[in-house]
Amino acid sequence: YDCINQNPDVAESVLRNHMWTIEDSAVIICIQDDPHVKVMMAGSTLRKVKSRSWKKQRHFRLLEDGMTIWYKSRWAGRGHSTCEYFSITEVEAVREGHQSEVLLSIAEEFPADLCFTLVFHGRQGNLDLVAESTEEAQAWIQGVRKLIHKTQTMDEKERLDQWVWDWFNKADKNKDGKMNFKEVRKLLKMMNVEMNEEHALHLFTMADKSESGSLEIEQFVHFYKMLTQRDEVWKVFQDFSGDGEKLMLEELENFLRTEQQEGEQSAQHAQELTDRYEPSESAKKQGAMTFDGFQMYLCSQEGSIFKPEHRQLHQDMSQPLSHYFISSSHNTYLLENQLRGHSSLEAYIKALKRGCRCVEVDCWDGSDGEPVVYHGHTLTSKILFKDVISTLKEYAFKVSDFPVILSLENHCSVEQQTVMAQHLSQILGDTLLTTLVDGLIPQQLPSPQELKGKILLKAKKIGGLEVCLDETLTDEVSDEEEMANGECSDDPPKSKLSRELSDLVVYCKSVHFHGFEHARLHGKCYEMSSFSESKAKKLAKEAGTDFVQYNTKQMSRIYPSGLRTDSSNYNPQEMWNVGCQIVALNFQTAGLEMDLNDGLFRQNGCCGYVLKPDFMRDGSTQFSPEKPDGKQGYKPLRLSIQVMSGQQLPKVNQKEGSIVDPLVRVEIYGVPQDQAREETSHINNNGFNPVWNETLNFVIHTPELALVRFVVEDYDKASRNDFMGQFTLPFTCLQAGYRHIHLLSRDGTAIPPSSLFVNISISELT
Ligand SMILES: *[C@@H]1O[C@H](CO)[C@@H](O)[C@H](O)[C@H]1NC(C)=O
Ligand SMILES: *[C@@H]1O[C@H](CO)[C@@H](O)[C@H](O)[C@H]1NC(C)=O
Repeated sequence: YDCINQNPDVAESVLRNHMWTIEDSAVIICIQDDPHVKVMMAGSTLRKVKSRSWKKQRHFRLLEDGMTIWYKSRWAGRGHSTCEYFSITEVEAVREGHQSEVLLSIAEEFPADLCFTLVFHGRQGNLDLVAESTEEAQAWIQGVRKLIHKTQTMDEKERLDQWVWDWFNKADKNKDGKMNFKEVRKLLKMMNVEMNEEHALHLFTMADKSESGSLEIEQFVHFYKMLTQRDEVWKVFQDFSGDGEKLMLEELENFLRTEQQEGEQSAQHAQELTDRYEPSESAKKQGAMTFDGFQMYLCSQEGSIFKPEHRQLHQDMSQPLSHYFISSSHNTYLLENQLRGHSSLEAYIKALKRGCRCVEVDCWDGSDGEPVVYHGHTLTSKILFKDVISTLKEYAFKVSDFPVILSLENHCSVEQQTVMAQHLSQILGDTLLTTLVDGLIPQQLPSPQELKGKILLKAKKIGGLEVCLDETLTDEVSDEEEMANGECSDDPPKSKLSRELSDLVVYCKSVHFHGFEHARLHGKCYEMSSFSESKAKKLAKEAGTDFVQYNTKQMSRIYPSGLRTDSSNYNPQEMWNVGCQIVALNFQTAGLEMDLNDGLFRQNGCCGYVLKPDFMRDGSTQFSPEKPDGKQGYKPLRLSIQVMSGQQLPKVNQKEGSIVDPLVRVEIYGVPQDQAREETSHINNNGFNPVWNETLNFVIHTPELALVRFVVEDYDKASRNDFMGQFTLPFTCLQAGYRHIHLLSRDGTAIPPSSLFVNISISELT
């Protein structure tokens, strides 16, 4: 069995056309003379801090690849010396000084100029470190920042070079800068490839032009290129290339028009793509694209399945807030589960960085008159309300300018509510919206555009915006959220509301829901209600059209059942189907539901707001998710996905010698009629370059609401398949034609160069 291409013509052509050299681009070459990086490579003893009592010295070092940071306990001599490492690509940022809860807790012991924090992508916790001198701390802070910057600004070619360079270093065990056949065989296993020995030797011999019995880095690059040669891409290239060597401008244009369905822009785009992706200067001068350039383009973001223009902020942001889906988190303060989990400011930072625009704060009376945030009546740890607000102030607008809604779950006494109001005003200042944007009583909510840079408080309010009179407090304070949550039945049902706090609420006044009829007659646009997932589900099923209409004017917030103490999530799609804006999920919990949330909000510049389709913005809409064919302009589409191949799929089992049996499943989420899944068969023993070449077909009735999820799993006959990677995107963001899907880990972080290659066609159903 041989899983890689054996076409000698292809391998020959690769050798002939090689213009891909390693020297000028690997990360390390660019930065190895940097003084900070030199310190990192020499290594430093840093104190790793996990808590006030857990502070241990570790020896940290940047490896020769310029990418891997490795550390171990300095004196762990005999016995178990545990060595750990991580890649710079996993690091999102470096914070300087006492900028984490852990470092703040030891602030008196270690001065700020020795302390720094490495923040990782995804859900991985921070690494808090203390250096022995200011110089050393600075070397690591500046050095890591430089390396992060370098990895983020690498182009496709550099990325690929880096990837090859990494593999070479990993496999070159004796560090002689050469790799013999035995090492190469080992490397193939590491790369998730099971290969016929004869064929591997054949490629090895072809690459070993000096006949020395080993490969140097240049030769290894050739070997790698032959190994990763893509037969299916080669065929497509051949179909459009006149001479089989290159694509002339008009040939590329023809490809873009007929296969990639790019229409009129094809001519201009062909020129742009050649300029951007063709590595050979001489081909570029001729206005031609070689096979290398063609592959670079197909593997780039532009050649990906996601429409590039939809990644950018491209939607109308001047409509009322109720016309948008808003990325929203539930129990934002929790990093883990709801019974004994850890409450942390980091959880707010992580959610906000993920584009979340509605955070939740559960407030309780604290000692010393300072309100605290935690999951009431549980063993979750507590954090100070004022610290949460300071964190919000600092991080609210780092990834998006659009407004943040602060959803208050208020369990405090009037006295501490007043303290909360003071903190909100003092810490947030102008950022907190406390007056009407135009001084007028609103007939509809203001827009995200008008509210840019503002934090809106969602809480109970005494009276409405119309009356400034005092009202009795009684019917304002029975909290349907608390009762429906099933969490707080022993709380006094009626407590008083602080006037100061109430005055800070403008457009997001929490009210009890009295039915759609009541809302139609009496509902105000600035009044919003919360629904448990089961209540919302029931309403969606029984009165879908009413719910959609209600959500054109007022906002609704959906929250997970109180029984989900493991912080699991419900399917948000059912709530989006009826136009609910604030569909709050436990951001701390990875899985399908968060994949859908990340997928929906990946469009529109990841700004946390997505404009609902037009049939969900008109107050007299008759749309019902249960009957999508009743909609005006109903036009179902046929989606056909030819799953062609996979590239360098991640290993699920790190055990050496274990090779995966991958399959691809495509899942559609949308209105009930659109829910569907189809999968390919599995390919035995090949996670490196499996070829499926299977077509999966779907009919989509409401494309505007559909999400498409691609999942790769390791087939297991005896038990559940193992998850390998996924990518989810809105149907409306799909690009037709030959496309790569860049896979994400369970945590939602990129795992380059793992990808799928598909051929997508979308047509009207006739
Ligand atoms: C993939 O399938 C198509 C249509 O079924 C066929 O024409 C083509 O030769 C197949 N390609 C490979 C590499 O098997
Ligand atoms: C890709 O899809 C298009 C449109 O359905 C089809 O014409 C083409 O043959 C497909 N490519 C391959 C390699 O099967």
